Amino acid sequence: MTERGKEVQRMKKELPIMDEKQAKSDKDYSIYFQPPSLKDAKKRGKEDISVHYESAIPDDMKAIGVGKRYFIRTYGCQMNEHDTEVMKGMLEDMGFESTEDKLEADMILLNTCAIRENAEDKVFGELGHLKTLKQEKPGLILGVCGCMSQEESVVNRIMKKHAFVDIIFGTHNIHRLPMLLKEAYYSKEMVVEVWSKEGDIIENLPKKREGMKAWVNIMYGCDKFCTYCIVPYTRGKERSRRPQDVLAEIRDLARQGFKEITLLGQNVNAYGKDFTDLAYSFGDLMDDVRKIDIPRIRFTTSHPRDFDDRLIDVLAKRGNLVEHIHLPVQSGSTEVLKRMSRKYSREHYLELVDKIRQAIPDAMLTTDIIVGFPGETEEQFQETLSLVRQVRYDSAYTFSYSPRDGTPAASMDDNVPEDVKKDRLKRLNDLMTQIGREQNELLRGQTVEVLVEGESKTNPDVLSGRTRTNKLVLFQGSKELSGQFVHVTITEPQTWVLKGQLVTAQPAKVV
Ligand code: SAH
Ligand code: SF4
Ligand code: F3S
Repeated sequence: MTERGKEVQRMKKELPIMDEKQAKSDKDYSIYFQPPSLKDAKKRGKEDISVHYESAIPDDMKAIGVGKRYFIRTYGCQMNEHDTEVMKGMLEDMGFESTEDKLEADMILLNTCAIRENAEDKVFGELGHLKTLKQEKPGLILGVCGCMSQEESVVNRIMKKHAFVDIIFGTHNIHRLPMLLKEAYYSKEMVVEVWSKEGDIIENLPKKREGMKAWVNIMYGCDKFCTYCIVPYTRGKERSRRPQDVLAEIRDLARQGFKEITLLGQNVNAYGKDFTDLAYSFGDLMDDVRKIDIPRIRFTTSHPRDFDDRLIDVLAKRGNLVEHIHLPVQSGSTEVLKRMSRKYSREHYLELVDKIRQAIPDAMLTTDIIVGFPGETEEQFQETLSLVRQVRYDSAYTFSYSPRDGTPAASMDDNVPEDVKKDRLKRLNDLMTQIGREQNELLRGQTVEVLVEGESKTNPDVLSGRTRTNKLVLFQGSKELSGQFVHVTITEPQTWVLKGQLVTAQPAKVV
């Protein structure tokens, strides 16, 4: 493992639990601790990334969790959800069992997200609750990991105000969880290990997957540096997993009977660009994945800038490659896109949408949009609304701009007042609701393929499942159909759900 950018810190924890006042007055922790650095995280070095295949769990740690339970709360994106699966896999290989009840847990981990301020507020709120639990149960191990741990301001704040936390580790240190736990158990020190720079790629980490759908990382990090976004700092530079490792993992999931796979990366279209010995793109990877016997393959997230013709050609072959593309636009104004450093214009985006629709006429598009970016005028916001009307997305994740420390946009004048941001978000959401409803209406009377997930949350007589385009479908049927594909005729399309009737009681054959 390369040593670059590592910061491993152990802090004397003289008081097992300190309240905010004590922590502030008794000690200045900054003298003990070099916090992670967003500035260092920004640097993109030329070092090669090595791939490691050895086991992550040392022999003496294989039974450390026997008789103990863990609870992990996950915030943020699918990348974090998948990291949680890896941590669960490691913990269970060490003998821990999972629990859904915090009160029962011997170890609690918060896998955090830093994307917007409200994501961070949730975590600090949760830490407040956990303090009481820790006071009642001093043996409880509390850990904070994920993207917030990569931020120096957050680590400092936890050390000062939440000194009862036992472990803080970053997104590049997940594979080190067994070693960090060992330290936390055998010493009385707070363990802080956050590498400001990405480490290598670690293969063969155990993963605890549940259900019939699986996530597969194809790459880590992001080099796009959109001016509002913290991710390139919290996740490091782009590193692609070797194609043979990705394909072997997917083949193994196919053998295990998984029905759907989502390939994950912050910018999947950049896959392979970091290989120095191989010309192999995301389109090439999709073409190879297409030949594996998994009924449905999705991917997220695509950056419009690098979405090339090769990829469109491959997606047009369909089969198990579903006709749903998540294509974040962020804004409909070329001016705002420029300030966001998205590196495409409104026109380029619309051209791309046209190309995709020509090759895959029934492609369903979804997107992400930010309103209230610094300097966004009403006219520029109107351009976003008009783009949404033109593209007719089936759904969108919409956000109000939230300045993130250390990003270039944080030093721009955040001059759109909060009530204006709120109003724009509401107008955008109203428009999206209307268009989403109209898009669903187009499916009335059509028969769609549904992967049955199980009984609906509110009514056990009703089954729920998803179309290839990931739309939620509800229909009457026997719960034995769970995990199978069926055909359903849509009889009652609504805004967020499609209600329908089963065509036959038999599972459907899927291409
Ligand atoms: N890699 C993905 C997005 C990851 S973050 C991509 O590039 O599409 C998910 C979404 O959060 C982004 O698409 C953006 O819409 C939103 N987002 C990111 N930073 C934000 C910020 N500072 N304020 C508000 N929304 C933000
Ligand atoms: Fe953030 Fe942009 Fe990278 Fe997406 S592509 S993770 S929005 S910097
Ligand atoms: Fe959040 Fe990190 Fe994902 S900031 S959105 S958890 S990459």
